[in-house]
Amino acid sequence: MNARDLLRSVRMAGSANGRRAARSAWRRQRADARDLPRRGPERARVPGAAVEAEPLPGGGVVRFTRSVLRVRVAVGGAVFCGWDGAAPEPSYALAGEGPAGGACPAADTRAVLEPDKDGWRVVSERVTVLISRHGAVEIRTPGGLLLRRELPPRWWDATGQQEGGGARWVQRSETPADARVYGLGGRAAGPRLPAGGYRLWNTDPGGSFAPGDDPLYITMPLQLVVADAGCHLIFHDNTWDGRVTLRDGEEGAGSGHDRPGGCEVRMDGGPLRYWVIAGTPARVLAGWTALTGRPALPPRWALGHHHSRWGFGSEQEVRRVAAGYRERGLPLSVLHLDIDHFDGHRVFTVDRRNFPDLPGLAAELAGQGVRLVSIVDPAVKVERGLAAYDEGSAADAFVRDARGEPVRGVVWPGEAVFPDFTDPRTRAWWGGLYAERLAQGFAGVWHDMNEPVSFAPFGDPTLPRSARHVLDGRGGDHREAHNVYGLTMARAGYEGLRRLRPEQRPFLFSRSGWAGMQRYGGSWSGDVATGWEGLRASLALVLGLGLCGVPYSGPDVGGFTGTPSPELYVRWFQLGAYLPFFRTHSAIDGGRREPWEFGAAALEHARAALVERVRLLPYLETLSHIARGTGAPYVRPLWWKSPGDRALRECADAFLLGDALLVAPVLEPGSVTRAVRLPRGRWYDTLTETEYRGRGQVLLDAPLDRIPVLAKAGSILPVAGADGAIELEVWAPRQGRTGSGVVFAGDPEGWGAPRVERFVSRWVDGKVVVERDGGGEPGYRVRVRGVAP
Ligand code: NOJ
Repeated sequence: MNARDLLRSVRMAGSANGRRAARSAWRRQRADARDLPRRGPERARVPGAAVEAEPLPGGGVVRFTRSVLRVRVAVGGAVFCGWDGAAPEPSYALAGEGPAGGACPAADTRAVLEPDKDGWRVVSERVTVLISRHGAVEIRTPGGLLLRRELPPRWWDATGQQEGGGARWVQRSETPADARVYGLGGRAAGPRLPAGGYRLWNTDPGGSFAPGDDPLYITMPLQLVVADAGCHLIFHDNTWDGRVTLRDGEEGAGSGHDRPGGCEVRMDGGPLRYWVIAGTPARVLAGWTALTGRPALPPRWALGHHHSRWGFGSEQEVRRVAAGYRERGLPLSVLHLDIDHFDGHRVFTVDRRNFPDLPGLAAELAGQGVRLVSIVDPAVKVERGLAAYDEGSAADAFVRDARGEPVRGVVWPGEAVFPDFTDPRTRAWWGGLYAERLAQGFAGVWHDMNEPVSFAPFGDPTLPRSARHVLDGRGGDHREAHNVYGLTMARAGYEGLRRLRPEQRPFLFSRSGWAGMQRYGGSWSGDVATGWEGLRASLALVLGLGLCGVPYSGPDVGGFTGTPSPELYVRWFQLGAYLPFFRTHSAIDGGRREPWEFGAAALEHARAALVERVRLLPYLETLSHIARGTGAPYVRPLWWKSPGDRALRECADAFLLGDALLVAPVLEPGSVTRAVRLPRGRWYDTLTETEYRGRGQVLLDAPLDRIPVLAKAGSILPVAGADGAIELEVWAPRQGRTGSGVVFAGDPEGWGAPRVERFVSRWVDGKVVVERDGGGEPGYRVRVRGVAP
């Protein structure tokens, strides 16, 4: 038992649920010991020498003595490589309607496998793939620069008793010495991932997490690699437990002896197949979200401020909080109800004593412009008479063990069973249960505990690895299904909401997930520990998830645990106000997070951040449509448009909000200034309108009442004027240059296509003039800024 397990077991001992959890953890261990295929003798294998090659649409197949490699360029430029007969389908990551999950895009028939001097090559528009005679695969830019070199993989085949899931495998690769890696899901240590090991197994760290905790709730075998040679993304489409180890390269200071960066992907089973997408960061994200699905568009109200707490406890308390916002003139868009509003923590029930009339409360709040969002946990209490349990049992919806018995775990309501969301019938049934939530007046859902968690005082707090899953008809066990549990639950919820309320876009966000989860909604950072480290980790998570294709996320503002100091609260609030999902939330034993709980000064600083959030809503809405259309996250690393700027690749304390704004939150205690590294171009301090020249560092004032925000010269962004009407904020382009911007004004909740308007600005007779792209009056009030008086 390690220290963490020990701590957990001490915490749990004594309570009834703790004793149940101990029994369940023993059951899990016994089941795995009994039912998991034993790892017998294994024999290592490498592909061996190439024997023959066969061109096929989009690429071809190279046969080696002990394996076979398929290379296929898809329309849009993504390259698929699959070993040992692995095909792109079936896949939980891919978008579209395949027979068992997503569908692979058609082959780009212009790309063909052809002989090359040391093997074969496939030349496509975006990359050239070179395959050596021993199975190394190089990905190069069309100009011939090396993006990555995959060394021949190695498998460990079971020689005795057949192991379920196939061989374990490892694949090592090299990247340019200057390459930096981002992604791998939500990682607190990011956004740039330092050298070291990263496990691929969705995990609730329990209690709360800090930057050293890894893995967390969302892992994805996806790396975005940025180097001078270019950017690319590599995605190993494999849901099994695994580990990615990153090694930084070293440059030989012009000696020509660079030590390349390195990466090792080691998986416990499952197919060895991967996709590579190369290009600018924007093209890579567009390619990735074309492959795995464009991000769901949140309803407009979800871009406002959300307030939450585990433990509101009663309708009166919810009213009191809403009134607190209203009476102080603080804008509020959404309130969230956590598990304490359930009857005994049972999902899809209501504690009628403390919440006697939820539909009434929801209607009352709606009248004040405030929506209600409900938590939904996957675990269903084992209890006859409970509708979700009875119906689910009758429908055979719950995960079973290898002997056919339902797997029982322990979560908030006590002993519980777990829907198998990899079964299409279960998804359909579960989606229907959201009718109850809609009838209670909820406008959206918050999926929690879906790694999935089953409390355990020791070992892995999840289902037995031997638990059986339908896996959309293929059948398999939890080793393969674990990482897609949250993803498939999100699918069930999203599809259910679409069926039940077809005229409205679902609002759903989920703690756990996997590649492709953006199709169904967003996420949040989970139980981030209150502290300055937690504040920094929350930005890392949002940036990292955005680069994995999940643009809508945000932290528990103020941190999940304990009570932040007023300073920390204000700094978190100021950061949160510029992140897509802006929600204050805390644990049941944590302090309150209402802006008025931290003293008069903090209240005014939070108010300023809220007012600015409201002012920026039209811009955020525009960014939500851009994310939907192109996969570009709202919140982007500073290198987004300058991936060649090496200093920016290391930057973890500032970000771009769309193309127009650069936000430099204060992430250190006691700071009243901020050093900000600017990407190329001209930037205006939005407060003073002072102009700064990019590529270099500036020192800006950051007293407690504000964080520095800069606007790019030439940008045009929509903001809400004092009367709520959209106006254009126009930042003067450099003399002699032009500027531009786009405004998406959409259907706030429905599916109507948005109106897209483009604007240009230029200097005419010493003044900045704005018109519609193609000519004509802008049709909005215009405020030109950054023009010296
Ligand atoms: C864990 C979640 O991460 C947290 O946000 C929530 O408050 C608790 N579960 C209780 O539901």
